[in-house]
This record gives sequence, structure tokens and C-alpha cells, in this order.
Amino acid sequence: MNDPNGPLFYKGVYHLFYQWNPYAAVWGNITWGHAVSTDLIHWKYVKELALVPDRWYDIKGVWSGSATIVNGEPILLYTGWTNSSTQVQNKAVPKNSSDPLLREWIKVDAENPFAVPPPGINTSDFRDPTTAWIGQDGLWRTAVGSKYRANDTGIILQYRSKDFAKWELLDESLHAVNGTGMWECPDFFPVAVHGQQGSENYLGEENAIQKFVIKVSLDETRFDTYVVGDYDPASEKFLPSFEALDIGTALRYDYGIYYASKSFYDPHKKRRVLLGWINEADKPTSDIRKGWASVQAIPRVVWLDENQHSLRQWPVPEINSLRKHPIRHTDLLLKQGEVFKVNGSQGSQLDIEVTFQIPKAHANDENDEFNFESSRVEGIPNNTLIYCNGSFPEAEQIIGPFGVHVLASEDLRERTSVFFKFLKFKGSWKTMVCNDLTSSSLASDATKGVYGGLVSLSSYKNRQALTMRILVDHSIVETFAQGGRTCITARSYPLLGSDNNAHMFVFNNGSLPVKATHLAVWKMDKIRYTTV
Ligand code: FRU
Repeated sequence: MNDPNGPLFYKGVYHLFYQWNPYAAVWGNITWGHAVSTDLIHWKYVKELALVPDRWYDIKGVWSGSATIVNGEPILLYTGWTNSSTQVQNKAVPKNSSDPLLREWIKVDAENPFAVPPPGINTSDFRDPTTAWIGQDGLWRTAVGSKYRANDTGIILQYRSKDFAKWELLDESLHAVNGTGMWECPDFFPVAVHGQQGSENYLGEENAIQKFVIKVSLDETRFDTYVVGDYDPASEKFLPSFEALDIGTALRYDYGIYYASKSFYDPHKKRRVLLGWINEADKPTSDIRKGWASVQAIPRVVWLDENQHSLRQWPVPEINSLRKHPIRHTDLLLKQGEVFKVNGSQGSQLDIEVTFQIPKAHANDENDEFNFESSRVEGIPNNTLIYCNGSFPEAEQIIGPFGVHVLASEDLRERTSVFFKFLKFKGSWKTMVCNDLTSSSLASDATKGVYGGLVSLSSYKNRQALTMRILVDHSIVETFAQGGRTCITARSYPLLGSDNNAHMFVFNNGSLPVKATHLAVWKMDKIRYTTV
């Protein structure tokens, strides 16, 4: 599988469609698979595929798209790869909208395709229509990811419709940034300035208490990057709050493997939920051997941070229902070089929460200001390797790394390490959260990446503590640092430290003692997938 498509809540059921090859564990023959859930955690596969390539306008693949509730009934918009390899936008409706499972879908042949690549756009750079919204004029809008051929400008094109059947291209794009290449899977949604409640109000009457988020998936770098700004529904213009934080620069949903994500408004719990695709990190030959490839991340609630320029993400609370047998420790003092084995935590499905006390040498430093301008210029994530993994001789001072090893063999020859590290550089501190997979497996064919992102301390009220939550599910390791301000998802394929031989440790590899004030580890219940 790859991208999540058309997430929605309808008649008490969460729906998730996804890009799927029914015939092989590699990309191709793309259809829309379909799964349903009542809690976003236990999913059932729907027997019927939602959309398969069977029309001239999608015969080479039914590509990514979205769902919108229109007059009470869901409509799917998706990209078709035509018989002549052109990307076009199409529409499908439920065969029976009174069926809460929405098993069968009908493509609206008379209206398809409703959009073809406009002048200046390559036939291969026009895809992934967003969930539609209603503008001030009462007409529908949808947006399509694209690229201007001329100067490699990533762009989101806007379309308008009064009946959801005929769509016209608007002169103004929703957003564009020079030199960023093709923008895949755009997402555009409002966020409350205060609190965690989601919104689907695009009309701006309450503009003062709302901001807007644009996220795109950068084809060239394979990052999901976003920017927070203001949207004026009268001029249909989006303006980033900080130009320095525009698309392609600093902010990513996730600093590991996480792509083609898509959010939806969950009217049931009044929140915005984010889904994302986690690719494999081993070779396609291993995928073929095991017969499947890729997974969807645990759904995340997403909301605006107090700093008002970045987002926070947190696993949906429903995941907590899988927790059992907690192991708790308090005030673990870790000396320099100490590794503490967490007895009883053996297993490869865990939920881990750790709080570290920030070492005094750092906490007392007055120069501890998170400066997003300089963090951008320093080129995170390009320098991830040297910040996370290297000795970084330019640094005036380094504290850490300290953190946890998961999916580790008892002898620690295999370990997936998630840790914090402080670096003082040009007089000011940077805090990194990293996931280092260089020792994650004795197998030679997996990619063993080093991932890292900056952690913002200055926007955090409690400057004495650093927190991380890690969800481990076999090869998947999802990290949420500082309450979801920086997230890293990675894939780890240990040979020894797997299943019941997977161990967990807390470690301090820095030159100062560190205290883990709280540690909680839960084993997570297994989920059995069924078909409906
Ligand atoms: C992103 C993407 C989309 C496209 C789909 C095809 O991963 O390339 O842009 O619609 O996957 O499977």
C-alpha cells in the first residue's frame, strides 16, 4: 500500500481508503483498498475494492484523492492515470449511500474527467485533489497538487464548482513556492488558535481565532512539509505567518519515514485527525519475500501549538485501550555511560513514555532560545547525521545523548536508539531528538537511517523537562517528542531483538548524569484484522 485516501466519518463509521496493489508487494496496478473502523484502531477490510482501474480515464491507475460530504452524502475525488498516461481528476459516488460501510462506488462517467492538466503544467504533474470546502460565494472549492513546468515551482491549483459536477480553474493558486518541485497530496485545513478542537470552517467569520495549514508532500525529498498562515476567504489568498517557515524549509510533520499524509475533520470527536503512509526501509526483494510492503501510521490528532507557527501531533487516545501491564519507574539516575535494562518490558509491541530532567548545565543557560530562523539556515535535516550521530567538533558544548533503546537484543548488538541531545553552537543551544538506526539490525540489506529534528524548548512552559512517547509495533517505531512537537517515524528490522526477544533500555551516553524522572512502559494488545 501507499497513500491514505479519502478518510471520513460517516454514519458512525470511520472510513480509510488507501493506494493498493492487489497483485504484488511493489507499487503498480493501483486501486483504492477500503477499511472501516469505529475507533480508528481496530480496522476491518471491506471485501469490495472501492475503486479499480477500469475506465479510459483511470485505466493505468486509480490514484490519490479525498472524500467530501456533499448535501449529507460522501463524494470521492481522485486522480486517474489515463490510457495515454495523463493525470486527470475524477469523481465517484456511493452506489447506496444508506449503507454505513459504503461498500460499492460508482464512477460518474458523464462528468469524468472533470479536470485535465491546464497550460504550463505537464501531464505528469497534476494530481491528488483535496477534500472540498465551501467559499464565501457559497460555491465549492477543491485544490490539486502540481508544478509549473517553467521554473520548477510547486503549486496548488484551485477549482470552483456550484454543483460538484463542472469545475472551473481559478486564476489564483492557493499557494506556490519557487524551486520546490512537484507538490503531491496537498492538504488545506483550519486550526483553532486556542485549544485542540478541530474545525472545518473555511469562511473566516472567526478568522481572528483561526489559522490555516497547508501541507504538501515534496516529491523530490519525500517529506511532508507544512506551513501555518492566514487565509483570506474574500481574496482566496493564503499568507504564511512567517516567510522563513514556508513550504520546503523547516517544518515537517515527521522527520523520519512518513509521507502522503492526509487529514480529516472528525465530527464525532470534534478533532482533526491525520493519517500517513509509512514506507518500508528494506529492499524491494525483502518486500516480495514477505509478500507485503508498507503500513499506515497510528492516526494522530493534530492541532496548533501555543507558539502559533507549528503543529502538535499525538496518537489518538483510542490507542490507549490496547495498553496492559504497565511497568513504572521514577527518578532513575543515569550516570555517565549507564545503560538501564527495563525488566519486564520484553516484546515488540510497546507504548513508552519517558520524562527526563534537563541537565542543569543546560537549563540554567540564558541563551537557550529556540530560533527558527537559524535552525532553518543550519539546514536541518541535511545535517541530521552530524548533529545526531557525529561528534560535531564545531559545537562549543554537547550534552547527551540520553534516551532509550528499543527492539534491542539482550547483548545490545542490535538496538534502535531514540534520544535527546543538546548542542551549543555559536553561543546558542539547539535541542535535537534523534532516532539512530545504524545498529538496528545485523541484517545487511535494510537501510539504517539516522533521523532527527529540532525540539523547541522556548515555547514549552516547563523548561525543566524533556518528554518522549514511543509506539513500537514490530518494525515500526513512532516517536512523539515534547508532547508531539517533533515526531519521527522509522522502520527497524532486527534479527535478534524482535518479538519476545526484543528488549528495552534507558541509556545515558553523555558526559553528565541525567535523571529520568518518570518512565512508563505498557505492552500493547495485539489486533486481529478481519474482513467484512
Ligand atoms: C504519492 C503519490 C501520489 C499519487 C499516488 C500514486 O505517494 O505519488 O501523488 O497520486 O502516490 O500511487
